[in-house]
Amino acid sequence: MSPFMQSLGLKYPIFQGGMAWVANGELAAAVANAGGLGIIGSGHAPAAIVAKEIAAAKALTDKPFGVNVMLLSPHVEEVVQVVLQAQVAVVTTGAGNPAKYIPAFKAAGIKVIPVVPSVGLARIMERVGVDAVIAEGMESGGHVGSMTTMALIPQVVDAVNIPVIAAGGIGDGRGVAAALMLGAAGVQMGTRFLAAKECHIHEKYKAAVLKAKDIDTLVTGAYIGHPARVLKNKMSRQFVIAEKSAAVHDDNDFAAVEEIANGSLRRAVETGDDVTGSYMAGQIAGLIKTETDCATILQETIAQAQACLQHGVTGNYL
Ligand SMILES: Cc1cc2nc3c(=O)[nH]c(=O)nc-3n(C[C@H](O)[C@H](O)[C@H](O)COP(=O)(O)O)c2cc1C
Repeated sequence: MSPFMQSLGLKYPIFQGGMAWVANGELAAAVANAGGLGIIGSGHAPAAIVAKEIAAAKALTDKPFGVNVMLLSPHVEEVVQVVLQAQVAVVTTGAGNPAKYIPAFKAAGIKVIPVVPSVGLARIMERVGVDAVIAEGMESGGHVGSMTTMALIPQVVDAVNIPVIAAGGIGDGRGVAAALMLGAAGVQMGTRFLAAKECHIHEKYKAAVLKAKDIDTLVTGAYIGHPARVLKNKMSRQFVIAEKSAAVHDDNDFAAVEEIANGSLRRAVETGDDVTGSYMAGQIAGLIKTETDCATILQETIAQAQACLQHGVTGNYL
């Protein structure tokens, strides 16, 4: 394992992506206890909820874990204060530039690792002094850029002198081995952990992830500037039709379209609502067929990655 991953106190170079409304303290602690980096997703949740989940994780593990801070959240300032006080090991950030918070995080001994969708943003993040970047391809669940993981990772690895963690479309040991071969220091998986036993999304949402085929996701929100990958369902199909219609008719009714998205992930997670709820998941959902506990996910993934790296590819040889 790379010195950077070792410095985080991990047994395995695997992050569990901080997923809004999904990745709570229990999931993060289960991943931490299993040797990976568990990350609580703060999303747009108020600071009190984030503090509660951090406390829950601390009660369940003495291993390091992280918090994902959404920089566009209306509660970002309070969430940052909660994270600073809790002195979690790692902060990952989404949706923006964490530069203004970096001195405070550093002073608290917290490593800062933003998610980036491109070489340009990775370079900017390196300049503002982050510790590493998570380069995420558009195969991933949740908010996406336009680069694929396969094309993005080696370009980011060549462009920066800080560790790169690969995310997007990684669901087993073959994906981990491939990411390491592309120069990544480790991986972040989100969709794989939606099917973890310790992940308490609504059973209908989890069943949809387990049932999904390779082509069962689509990207909503591309026209309104917030593209997000979700499973195909009534909600996501209607969303895409509505935003295309707003764009074609130039009626500037994107506010109405955004209203469809508001709270849709939370509804899916809490009530399993597949009519107005977004079942966010990545393209790798098609590979995930069983609900397994976090320890088994990590052990099987690492064993398969090691086999790939020691003995070559699995599957069809040339
Ligand atoms: C349901 C869901 C919610 C997510 N929420 C967030 C989030 O709040 N912040 C963030 O930075 N990434 C978020 N992500 C992205 C994940 O942290 C992770 O980078 C991504 O899932 C990796 O790709 P994969 O889904 O192919 O494994 C989310 C992903 C999913 C599936």
